[in-house]
This record gives sequence, C-alpha cells and structure tokens, in this order.
Amino acid sequence: MAEKKDIFSGTLTLGPSKGLKGEISVPGDKSISHRSVILGSIAEGITEVDGFLEGEDNYSTMNAFRAMGIEIEHFAEYKLRIHGKGMNGLTEAEDIIDAGNSGTTTRLLTGLLSAQPFFSVITGDATLRRRPMKRVVDPLSKMGASITGRKNNSLLPIAISGRQLNGINYKTPIASAQLKSALLLAGLYARGETIIEEPEKSRDHTERMFRLFGADIKVIENSVIVKSTNRLNGCKIKIPGDISSAAFFMVGASITPESELLIKDVGVNPTRTGIIDILKKMGGSFEVLNTREVSGEPVSDILVKSSSLKGIDISGEELLPAIDEFPIICVAAAFAQGKTTVSGAKELRVKESDRIAVMADSLRAVGITAVEKEDGIIIEGALGEIKGGEIKSHGDHRIAMAMAMAALRSKNGIGVQGAACVDVSFPGFYGHLDKVRVS
Ligand code: S3P
Repeated sequence: MAEKKDIFSGTLTLGPSKGLKGEISVPGDKSISHRSVILGSIAEGITEVDGFLEGEDNYSTMNAFRAMGIEIEHFAEYKLRIHGKGMNGLTEAEDIIDAGNSGTTTRLLTGLLSAQPFFSVITGDATLRRRPMKRVVDPLSKMGASITGRKNNSLLPIAISGRQLNGINYKTPIASAQLKSALLLAGLYARGETIIEEPEKSRDHTERMFRLFGADIKVIENSVIVKSTNRLNGCKIKIPGDISSAAFFMVGASITPESELLIKDVGVNPTRTGIIDILKKMGGSFEVLNTREVSGEPVSDILVKSSSLKGIDISGEELLPAIDEFPIICVAAAFAQGKTTVSGAKELRVKESDRIAVMADSLRAVGITAVEKEDGIIIEGALGEIKGGEIKSHGDHRIAMAMAMAALRSKNGIGVQGAACVDVSFPGFYGHLDKVRVS
C-alpha cells in the first residue's frame, strides 16, 4: 500500500509582502472534478476531462471508481479519459473504499452505492471519521437503502448493502450540495421520481452536469426533480478554475497595498460567487471580465486590486454561496476597518475542522481580536500589520491557505504547522503564491 501523507506534520513559515502582482490561474474546481469522475464512470463510453483537479480529495474519488472496475487514464496533466461502463457497470470493490479527507467523495458515493447490487464499506482519515453522515443516511434509508455505521449509523466507517431504491419527496433540513447530490445520484436508480427541496439553494454543479450527460432533471426554484435513468452519455468536460482556490488570492491582493492581480478562467457559478459579493460589500475592488459558458458552467477572469476594506455583518444566507470561504473571509475581516460579524453558520463546525473555533484560535495567535459565537465569529479588524506567530492547520487545507495570506501583512511572518495539507484542494499553492508576491 502506498505510503500516506501526514497532513498534520511539518511547519512552513510564510513571510510578509507588499502585494500580489501579475496573472495567475488556479487549479480546477474540486466539486466539478469529483462529479466528472462519478458521472463519467456510470455513463456509456468515453468521458474526456480537461482541467481535473489533481488534489488528494479528487484522487480519493478516482481511486474508488478504479477499485470498482472503471478504467481511468490520467494520460496528461489535468486530463482524464474515463472509460464509462454504463449505469450498471460498477463492480464490488475488493477492499474498503478510503475517502481520505473528502466529505464529497463519502457523501456522494454513499448515495450512489446505496443503489448498486453489491456491498461496499467506506472509511476516511481521522477528521472525516468525525464528520456527520446521518444527514445522508437518514433520507437514503427512507428510499430503502441499507446503511450501517459507527455511532448509530452516523459516523464512518459505514457499510452499504446496495439494493433497489424508491423515489422520495424530501425537504432537506440544511442547504447542502453533498446531501442533495447523494440523493440525486440515488434518484437516478430509484423507482419513480425523486424530489429534493432545499431551504436555500446550495451549489448546483450536479444538476448542471446531469444535464450535460443527458439525465432527466428539472429544477424549480429550490427543488430538483430527477427520474430513474437508463443511460447517461459520456462527454467532454472542461473544468474551470476553482473560485474557492481563487478566493485566497482575491483576499491576499485586497489586503496588501501594492496589488493588481488577474486571476484567469475562474468558475463563477452564481451558487459559488458569494466571496465576490462579500468582498465587494467590504469595499473590495473587483472586475469580472470576459464571462463565457464552458461545459454548462459560467467562467470569467477576475481582476483584483488593493483596497481599504471595512468590517460588515455577514448572514448565513450571504455565506452559503461562499461556505468554503469562511477562513479567508475571516482574514479579510482581520485587515478591515471596524468589526465584522458572521452569523447563521453553524455548519462551519463540521467542515474539515471546526472552522469557527480554529479560525478564532488562529487569529488570536497572530494578534487579532476574535470572539467565537455558537454560529459564527466576531472579528475586530487590525488596521495595518499584525504581529504574526504560529498556528496549527488541524489538517484543514483552507485554514493553512487562509493563514498563509494573513502572513502577507504580518511583521514577523506566520508559521503554519501542518502546511502540507493544502494538497487536499490546491497542490502547488505555495509555489503559486511565490510567483505573484512582491518581495
Ligand atoms: C461540496 C459541498 C459543500 C462544500 C464542500 C464541497 C460539494 O459541502 O462545503 O467543500 O462538492 O458538494 P456541504 O454539502 O456539506 O455544504
């Protein structure tokens, strides 16, 4: 078995900079990359993927499908050729499926595998084994799935005995694209219709990709309706840059005084662009240029310049389209004039880490006043430089990258313990940063 990377070890110290200048592009979208492998595997014929994110999370999905008998050629950088075997072509994996650090792999596969005529077991790393699975297990069980797991079927490892499912009409208690997508994948195989209604609309990459592959899907406001499907057709997919990765550079450029940075080919799906709206509300300088549609997703180039940010109130609704950007929004707030309050964001406690607690600790460790709330955080902006210090990533990629950007405005730099975890979503992050930073 290949040696596993320890995402908790190794400290990297990041230093200050006057700004970020020039042009960059960021790696492919993580959510879309997962979905391209999943749908490509159960489609008929070849799916060609360009722009695949070569992050640890996406390798977890790719390895799972290889283990279920799908040939996936990673024939060039960012490029995959998936030899889809059709809706009924997956075969039982010989071993436990290891989803690593990836919640998306776990939850989407739980939906798909519930409907396959074989047995599967899914586990993950120490962080993933603490994350809640009940949200997918409960509605899937209502569809007829047989899933058992630790702590009353709520934690990994879980065991799935696949079987014929029935459609469901389900109102999700939270807006979660992982939950919605798990049910949509199960719905492709379930008798009749599956209707999922969300309290607010979560990211809709699954719906868009279902259309690309020819699934029968309808979207009416916050509801999605999918019918049982006999055939998906393999296709060509070009994946845009991940706005959640671009977000670190958007904030890095905003908070440093001599920045002008063009971020090329970024996915600007409206369910994901909350970070631009939030930074604009804080007074950030953004131009969204050259918008076009590629493989069913809108894509733009984004020009960011230095700006004087001000503190604002951010509601749960405003945060939803920027749900993964909470750590870097905290960093923007740390360098804004006045107070920033985030509320209605309890979900952040069950991400790759408890992001509310970890960000409050990290900001305090480098000289910022931050107060944890049950459902968010209050941050007092420090005008000018912060002192710096050392923080722990807790194996959470987005904490490491957010604090690396905070280091740009520190006197003494910031040491990030467990810096290598950035590979989960952004391999080469530190190199990208080096290329555009003004020393
Ligand atoms: C994702 C959905 C979101 C997001 C995660 C990726 C997806 O999670 O935070 O990084 O690809 O569907 P939730 O569905 O838990 O909100």
